[in-house]
Formats: sequence, C-alpha cells, structure tokens
Amino acid sequence: MSYQTVLERCEILAGFTEDPSAITRRFLTAPVRQVHEQVGNWMRRAGMQVRIDAIGNIVGHYPGVSAETLVIGSHLDTVPNAGKYDGVLGVMLAIAAVESLAGKKLPFAIDVIGFSEEEGVRFAMPYLGSRAVAGTFDESFLQLKDADGTSLNDAIAQFGVDPREIPSASFRNRKIIGFIEAHIEQGPVLEGLNLPVGVVEAIAGQSKLTLIFTGRAGHAGTVPMNRRRDALAAAAEFIVEVEEIGKNIPGLVATVGQIFCLPGATNVIPANVKCSLDVRHAEDSTRSAVLAKIVDAGKSLAQRRQIDFRIDGRSDQPAVPMDRQISAFLAGAVKEQGISVHRLPSGAGHDAAIMAALCPVAMLFLRNPGGISHHPDESVLAGDVEIALAVLSSLIERLAQEHRS
Ligand code: HGY
Ligand code: MN
Ligand code: MN
Repeated sequence: MSYQTVLERCEILAGFTEDPSAITRRFLTAPVRQVHEQVGNWMRRAGMQVRIDAIGNIVGHYPGVSAETLVIGSHLDTVPNAGKYDGVLGVMLAIAAVESLAGKKLPFAIDVIGFSEEEGVRFAMPYLGSRAVAGTFDESFLQLKDADGTSLNDAIAQFGVDPREIPSASFRNRKIIGFIEAHIEQGPVLEGLNLPVGVVEAIAGQSKLTLIFTGRAGHAGTVPMNRRRDALAAAAEFIVEVEEIGKNIPGLVATVGQIFCLPGATNVIPANVKCSLDVRHAEDSTRSAVLAKIVDAGKSLAQRRQIDFRIDGRSDQPAVPMDRQISAFLAGAVKEQGISVHRLPSGAGHDAAIMAALCPVAMLFLRNPGGISHHPDESVLAGDVEIALAVLSSLIERLAQEHRS
C-alpha cells in the first residue's frame, strides 16, 4: 500500500466527526462506529483478523509463526477541532506496513491497535484505551462522568461493549516484543533541522488536574465590588499566576485549557468555576515541585478572596524514556533511508508512555510543518509519510531478522 493511500485514508477518517464543521471525535461517540467499520475493512484487506475490545480499541491481528507479538499503533480519538493526523496517521502507517508484507509470514505476529481514548477530552482522563491494553486501567475510572453526566461505564455499555470485560483487553498475559508508535512531532524541531523523521528519546511527564473555585453568586448590579466573592475573577488571577510561574521555569509548560463558569448569566456574579490544569516537564521532580507551587498560589489567592479552592481530580503520568534497544533498531531503519538520526524528547503525551508498562516502546516522529497540531491547520509532507512508511517496514524486517537469528 502506498503512502498516498495512507494520506487518503487520513482524509476519509477526518470526515467521521461529531461536528460537521470541524474534526471532533471523542471517546466512543457516534463517529467512532464509522471509524471502526472503515478501519476494520482496511485491516482485513491487509490480512488481519479484526476485533473491538471492551474499551473500544480496534485491534487487527496479523498472525506470525510464533505467538510472540509486535504491537504497532496510535489513537483514533481527537481533541475538539482537531487536525487530520494526530494519532490517526500512526494507525494508518501501521496498517500500510502490514499490508506491504503481502501475507508474508514473520517469526512473530503483529497487532495493530487504534486506541479509543488518548486525549482524555470526554472524561478528563487520558489514555483509557492504552491503559486497558497495558493492564493499568483502574476500575474506579468507570465512575467518571462526562459533561452530560454519563458515566464511563454507561458510555462503554451504550457503545455496545461490556465494561466488565475490560480486564480481558489487557495484553499482560501475552509475549509482547514491543510497541512502536509513529506520530507527528507536534513541535518545530524536525522542521528546524530540515529532517523528515526523528527518533523519540523520552516522553515528558505530565500532571492533569481539575480545580474548583467556589464563591458566592449575587446581583451584578447591586453587590459592591469590595463585598464580592467572585469565583471567575479568582480563577482569572490564578490563570495569570500559572502563566507567570510557568514562564520562569526552563522546559516547563503549564496550561489552563478548559474552564466552566456557573451560573453563567451576564448579570450574576460567578459562583462556581471548574477549570483544568496541565503541567509538564521532562524531569518529574521539577514537575511536582512546580505543581506544588502552583497549587499553593491558588490556595493563597483564594483565601485572600474568601473563595473555596479545591482539587477535584488528578492524574499524574511520569516521564518515560524510550527503550534503548528497540530505538536502536528504529535508528538503524532511519539510517537505511539515508537520513541522519536525530533523537528528540516529546513534550506531547502518547500511548507509548502507557504501553511502556507492558513492553519495550519506541516512537518515530514525523516532521510537522510549523509544529501546528491540535488545530485544523495540522499537516504533514507526503514525502515524509513515504519515508516513515519505509522506516516502519524496515524496522519490522530488522526485528524479524533478529528473531530469526
Ligand atoms: O496532551 C497530549 O500531549 C496529547 O496530545 N494527548
Ligand atoms: Mn493529541
Ligand atoms: Mn496524539
């Protein structure tokens, strides 16, 4: 299968969206069914047996001589108003690499996975799909609620799979050789070096919190300014404080990307604000120290403003180094294409960070013009996709050689 087909398929999947004016495909929403049907057909055409697991991952199995399995994949969910390639490209490249085997038997099997939830948009909990496969899914997640009040448990059941079967989605009792993920860089480094691809050396750690500010509603026209407990003004001061702290720590990124305000009337002083906080750094000790500083800043400004401030949810993902050995095979495959090997860290989170709990992992980055991602202008260069496909095929062959020897 050609790299042009990979790009055409990304275009097709971009049409499966919750919002006809944008690409938005959250965990197990209606367009995911269309994606499963289309991706399932492509997987079968590539010689794979296809199943949907109990958390909504789609898994294509390409049998090998032994039951040992190489896993290749990425995620099929998106952020709201997304680009066409984040996650999807990695799954399409994986299917193309299997299709190019044309039925050839390898010493090991290949499972291609399209993970159901990496972004964590719908339930404010990322990596649900890869956590289930890695065996690190926590049953308490099933009580998480989305903005409509639907629990994760019910969302899974409404989609038509059984949340009680999630433990069976785990690959823990299988012999997994490794997990490979091809993904756009979502940053400017490869473009700056004029390189089509790069080898990821580590994935930054990240902490995602949900914060609640509680003040007191009142009439916007009658309550004097010095007698207000305005939750949104407190959150606004906090957001500027987060930016200030983040700006002063090299290599740290801190973002408040989501905010909800109640009662949300123009003539009522805001009483309740819920907002997200996303803090990342390559060093876990730096990330946790800065996070503590940010939370302390929130507490003291809330106290000064007589606002109640609390953490309503939190997920911490440590920084994850890529496996040296499997990355060395990946680097060899890059070199084989006549491209100099550049190793770089990933500021973005990826399913590979979760799969590292299960098996050795490696990631291939593709140049991402302008570093634009999580945006409709996200793009890739066709020639780079052609190179990435060749690298993936060469990596599979190198790993097969290793197994034959
Ligand atoms: O948030 C991230 O880094 C990824 O896009 N989920
Ligand atoms: Mn993303
Ligand atoms: Mn992604």
